Amino acid sequence: MRPCSRIYSREPALASPLQKGGKFMTSQIQVTGPLPGARFGATVRLSEPLGTELPTGLPQALADAGGLLLIPGLGDIGREPQLLVKLSYLFGTEVENYRAILKSPMLSHPSAPEIFMVTNMIPGSPPSPALPVPPLTPEGRLPVQYPQRFGWHSDQSYRNPAPDISVLYAQTPVARGRGQTIFASGTLAYDALPEHLREKVENLQGMHCKPGAGRDRRSAESGKPSPALAPDQFATQPVVRIHPVTGKKSLFLCERAQMDWFDGPFVGMQPGPDGEGARLLDELLVHYTRPEFTYVHEWTQGDVLVWDNRCLIHTATWYDAAAEQRMMWRTTVRSDGGATVPSSMPEVVSQGAG
Ligand SMILES: [Fe+2]
Repeated sequence: MRPCSRIYSREPALASPLQKGGKFMTSQIQVTGPLPGARFGATVRLSEPLGTELPTGLPQALADAGGLLLIPGLGDIGREPQLLVKLSYLFGTEVENYRAILKSPMLSHPSAPEIFMVTNMIPGSPPSPALPVPPLTPEGRLPVQYPQRFGWHSDQSYRNPAPDISVLYAQTPVARGRGQTIFASGTLAYDALPEHLREKVENLQGMHCKPGAGRDRRSAESGKPSPALAPDQFATQPVVRIHPVTGKKSLFLCERAQMDWFDGPFVGMQPGPDGEGARLLDELLVHYTRPEFTYVHEWTQGDVLVWDNRCLIHTATWYDAAAEQRMMWRTTVRSDGGATVPSSMPEVVSQGAG
């Protein structure tokens, strides 16, 4: 897809086809999409430092870009973490307080409780992702497609409402070629679904489960007894979601660690890791993560990625946690009530990645 640029000006909104609500832009941003090598996403350049003026127009740009924005050069956040929180509030009314909800409060930023530190630099942090087997594709490339690439998820899909938007800042990324974040577009995947799969998923409900709750695929395969779940560890979510801003349908699925593999993964289908539901989920994920629906992000210090969990899934790649240090700061944002889709959709206000 040929990249194009769009200028969001300081002029009254009527000057911009994307801002028809009569509002004024408070800053200038330049949006160029899609992201390199992908069919979605966009790069945003701010005309002013983040600490000088918070830009408006970013939520619209996010919707236009299919749910993924890269904003490079925001190293000021490292010196002033509140800037990341302020940026996050541009995308919704609630930025979660991780100090209140994490089992390990050490993983929330000491001066900004809304920031979850994704790192190997603090005791108690989750381990770095495992390497795929084999680590490269037969062509020698980084594997992106399930099941060679695994760990695909939408952040906290086991909550209802789940966070709509995630914002991730690279304070200390690892060297290029590892520690990437890979995204897959549920919108592109849905649009290209073969007819036999489209019919199966249209009214299907997925059973999402918190990682570590003991109902993941490996636990089910091992024959362990199924543990009971707390209400905040489980949510049923539609497999096909209608985006409340764009009106577009997208697939909404996770995989081995974030679905219920005892009673699920789908309501009304044969449960368990060898059941009819498992076979359908595997088939859907192979399709969902086809390379043409994905984007691989190589992190540079100061990068911010903003993504829409309602229409994208993502996963992280291996890095050498014994030899390298990694520190990423993440916030999660709610805006529209999560998975609950209103029966009458708002006006469609954007079309594609520009
Ligand atoms: Fe995630």
